[in-house]
Amino acid sequence: MFRRSSLQCSIRALLLLIPWFSCLVVGEVSHNFSQCQEFFYNRTPPRGITAAGYQPICQRYKNQYHFASLYHRQHRAPLFSAYLLSPPDGKRPKTPWMCEPQLAFSHASPEMRQFNTPPDQNVMESQAVTQDYSNSSFTKGHLNPSMHQKTIEGRKATFTLTNIVPQRAGSNSGPWSILENAMLRKFKAFCNGSMYLITGVMPYQSEARWINNRVSVPEYMWSAYCCPLFRSDLPESERLFFPTFAAVGRNDRNSGEEIVPVNVKARAATRGYDVRRMPLETLEGILAQRLAMPISLFDGNCRK
Ligand SMILES: *[C@@H]1O[C@H](CO)[C@@H](O)[C@H](O)[C@H]1NC(C)=O
Ligand SMILES: *[C@@H]1O[C@H](CO)[C@@H](O)[C@H](O)[C@H]1NC(C)=O
Ligand SMILES: *[C@@H]1O[C@H](CO)[C@@H](O)[C@H](O)[C@H]1NC(C)=O
Repeated sequence: MFRRSSLQCSIRALLLLIPWFSCLVVGEVSHNFSQCQEFFYNRTPPRGITAAGYQPICQRYKNQYHFASLYHRQHRAPLFSAYLLSPPDGKRPKTPWMCEPQLAFSHASPEMRQFNTPPDQNVMESQAVTQDYSNSSFTKGHLNPSMHQKTIEGRKATFTLTNIVPQRAGSNSGPWSILENAMLRKFKAFCNGSMYLITGVMPYQSEARWINNRVSVPEYMWSAYCCPLFRSDLPESERLFFPTFAAVGRNDRNSGEEIVPVNVKARAATRGYDVRRMPLETLEGILAQRLAMPISLFDGNCRK
């Protein structure tokens, strides 16, 4: 065993080079959402995202695409996940957290898979791992929530850490989960076709915050839907919610109130993690300012 140590050393030296090397290779490969365009309205991903460092991921599990995420390598977190809403059958599955070997190795299978224990060093370099969250004061917040997916495979596929951001428990199990339920009810009651959702994050503006010095913490969560075919007998009171609607949620109770005001009277319930509902155009205005990119989430604003 000792005699092998110099060989092990050189192997280790080689392995240390791989993260750097494989990132380089990945960076050269042209990636897009061409394998999973069906999760975007008119098969058109959001326009206007110009910054470098974003990696499209077609989220594949059990040999099938289930949704799409735009992953930010440096943040080790997604900017958004896009999916079609379909009401769930049965309970939230018990399932292990998964990772995306394709982020670490450009030639790896595009399927998500369970983490090795301990996690592979290259995987760990390229994305968040469950340990990043274990000593943080954040929960693992789904962008595409398991309760918006019908099949058991679809629900399990949401448990990949590239669909997850550090979210305060007060938001995740409070106002944000109420929003997710409200969208599900709107879909069931008034949508007469597909509902396309895009849910994402806004990082802190001036000074990035991190958990474990590795994973970017969002200041706000946002979500928008597009339901191009809604019921013709839509009640007057629902007109405002179709074909599109959006919301922004606080993920920091100490944030200012310019984007999402705090309802002081509801504080016992919201605990400062209020969600502000708004028209799609308002959200796009906020995103343009905060992300410094003029983002158009749905082709033709979901109206063609
Ligand atoms: C997407 O990427 C593939 C290869 O990476 C390329 O062949 C294809 O033309 C691209 N599609 C678009 C719409 O850019
Ligand atoms: C979490 O914190 C405990 C106590 O400080 C420490 O023993 C443990 O190694 C930490 N775990 C991780 C994954 O950082
Ligand atoms: C829902 O869509 C179907 C098929 O396009 C149509 O026949 C039906 O009238 C629609 N229902 C409502 C309430 O709009």
